[in-house]
Amino acid sequence: MSLQRIKSSRSLRLTLRFVVPLVVAMALLAYAVLPLVDKLTLHWSVRDMDIRSKLVTSTLQEPLGELLGQGNKRKIQSLLARAMQDERLFALGYCDIQGKLLFKTRAFPDGLGCLSPDPSARKTSSLLELPQGLVHVAVNPFSIEGLPMGSLMVLHDMSFVRQRSEDTRKYLLVLFAVLSLVTSVITVLIAHLSWRGWMTGVRALLRGEGLISPFSKSSSSELQPLVGDLRALLRTMDAEKRMADDLTISWNPDSLRSLLFKQLAGEQILVVSNREPYIHMKGREGMEVQRPASGLVTAVEPVMRACSGIWIAHGSGTADREVVDQKDHVRVPPEHPEYTLRRIWLTQEEEQGYYYGLANEGLWPLCHIAHVRPIFRTGDWKRYVAINQRFADAVIREAERDDPVVLVQDYHFALLPGMLRQSLPRATIITFWHIPWPNPESFGICPWREEILRGMLGSTILGFHTPFHCKNFLETVDRYLETRVNYASSTISHGGNLTLVEAYPISIQWPSPWQDTQPPVIRCREDIRQELNLGRDILLGLGVDRLDYTKGILERLRAVECLLETHPDMVGRFCLIQIAAPSRSVLEEYRAFESRVRALAEQINAKFSRDGYQPIHLKVEHHEPRDINRYYRAVDICLVTSLHDGMNLVAKEFVAARDDERGVLVLSRFTGAAHELYEALIVNPYHIEQTADALYQALTMPEFEQQARMRSMRSMVMDFNVYRWAARMLLDAARIRRREKLAERIGVAI
Ligand code: G6P
Repeated sequence: MSLQRIKSSRSLRLTLRFVVPLVVAMALLAYAVLPLVDKLTLHWSVRDMDIRSKLVTSTLQEPLGELLGQGNKRKIQSLLARAMQDERLFALGYCDIQGKLLFKTRAFPDGLGCLSPDPSARKTSSLLELPQGLVHVAVNPFSIEGLPMGSLMVLHDMSFVRQRSEDTRKYLLVLFAVLSLVTSVITVLIAHLSWRGWMTGVRALLRGEGLISPFSKSSSSELQPLVGDLRALLRTMDAEKRMADDLTISWNPDSLRSLLFKQLAGEQILVVSNREPYIHMKGREGMEVQRPASGLVTAVEPVMRACSGIWIAHGSGTADREVVDQKDHVRVPPEHPEYTLRRIWLTQEEEQGYYYGLANEGLWPLCHIAHVRPIFRTGDWKRYVAINQRFADAVIREAERDDPVVLVQDYHFALLPGMLRQSLPRATIITFWHIPWPNPESFGICPWREEILRGMLGSTILGFHTPFHCKNFLETVDRYLETRVNYASSTISHGGNLTLVEAYPISIQWPSPWQDTQPPVIRCREDIRQELNLGRDILLGLGVDRLDYTKGILERLRAVECLLETHPDMVGRFCLIQIAAPSRSVLEEYRAFESRVRALAEQINAKFSRDGYQPIHLKVEHHEPRDINRYYRAVDICLVTSLHDGMNLVAKEFVAARDDERGVLVLSRFTGAAHELYEALIVNPYHIEQTADALYQALTMPEFEQQARMRSMRSMVMDFNVYRWAARMLLDAARIRRREKLAERIGVAI
């Protein structure tokens, strides 16, 4: 319903509330109260007159009896005339025992005659309508010393009754008018106040605050029974809309662009991440542009290309400063620019404390169950706070309006949403946490847990890969902060801010950007075999990871070793190419991990190498995404054995690369991807024998089975690609923005 219609129906209701009580009161007065009052007044007056008549009769009893005894007619006439001085008396008449009118005063009506004292014997009622007006007639028996003599007819003027009725009517009319006016005013006032209460409640619901708790203070008590219904309705509508979107739209850069155009027309989109999508490096042959090994970058880059916003990130390349303008901007991708990269500079100390220290020695192991202890240092924390503020300031400077849409990426910026919220309260902040969220006990060991949670709750939407991570987050907030957590609607209300916690499984670009330019699978395979000097019948396995202890690389190598031990026929027939991008090697933990990986690979190679064959080809170096894609196409199986991983996009990239519908994916159950790619061979990487069995099953899988599994996984990744991931978040953001704007408008209208 439009605001205009809401307003006019509201004023109509208010008018009715005022007029209806007035009309009802007046009708009641006219048709019920006044006739009743007339009737009662007459009834009371008749009773009065009956009493008065008896009084007059008894007063006249003695003198009249005496004069009747004397037979003094003149004196009797005079006595009756004197009695007539009472202004209410209309006439008197004396009848003898035979019913003959012997004496009467002047006004006694002609033709009335004597009436029987017994009312039941009389035809005439005690009231007579005469030309002079209404008259009350009483016939009282008259006796002298016990002997019945006749009767005295006492006639009272009843015109005063009409006067009395009219006066009463007047007073009643005024009284009723005043009463109904007061009632109308009170009704309108109460209606107005309760309308305000309702509207406040509905506004809170629209903002989503009413969704927090049915016991929320912000909802008026009479709204309470409706909160559940409204909440269910809103969520159903959202779910239906979503489902309709999910079913009908096939997401690609164009549909994402059109979504931005339709739902967020003219809104500015800013992305904040630590890792930049393009790194300018000084190489031996001049400047080189590198694409980092980062799932985050893989996912966000195609979205940025579709919406041409500004991406704010740490300028970490050795030649980064050389290509930016005065505002530290550089247009990317370098070959055909589509959006702006804004670089933020950090000193070595800052990077050490904020990135290596707090983010990667503290939060990274804290959030991953990989049995590496987090390290927390106060100095690192201070740097982390300062750098979050620096990035927040950059967002504020880049924002062209006070309500931009800001996409905050990952654990490097847990505080940034809260900082932004303070300066840009109207901004729509979507934070995506690319890594897992642990259970409350695990997170509880962080010394700055409250600050981190408060910072994250500055977000409008907080996204995780899986519903399980969302649940962990809600429980963590419930445990450590004074907030209202609503599990049903997956929202948290904190300090007047509402955060929707939702699962948005991240994905990759579809179709793969190299789809049309890569050589056929057979060519890729031959090339790789040649490059690595491998025989023609060798089966190829592939691992692609950053050299990170969460990726399960050691477990993977052990599984290969176990495979070769349990299936000696695979010795000389299978080898694993392990691409390991050097990562965070400033940190001791990572350097030690690299040494362990190298040592184990050497050990296995020493054990099984023969005649130029070695089972493990470890390539610890940076590979460009295009090159990795070539490997995906060349191999028979791909191994993803993370010990814990938010999603793991390698699994999806492998599937996307296999347009020949061949190849088998062996996938750790501890990845987010395992919740989507059911047709992979799912393993527990801690269980070395089980993983080795899966390897063997993969290497010997018939082609038709490979095809069936791969086809199904490909259709899943095609539908649930990164454009859908971004679209779902942006659609939710657009819906929340609309609600907030509507709430603002209703607020102004009231
Ligand atoms: C994970 C994180 C990303 C990060 C990437 C690479 O995927 O979620 O935020 O960019 O690892 O790590 P790095 O430290 O090199 O950026």
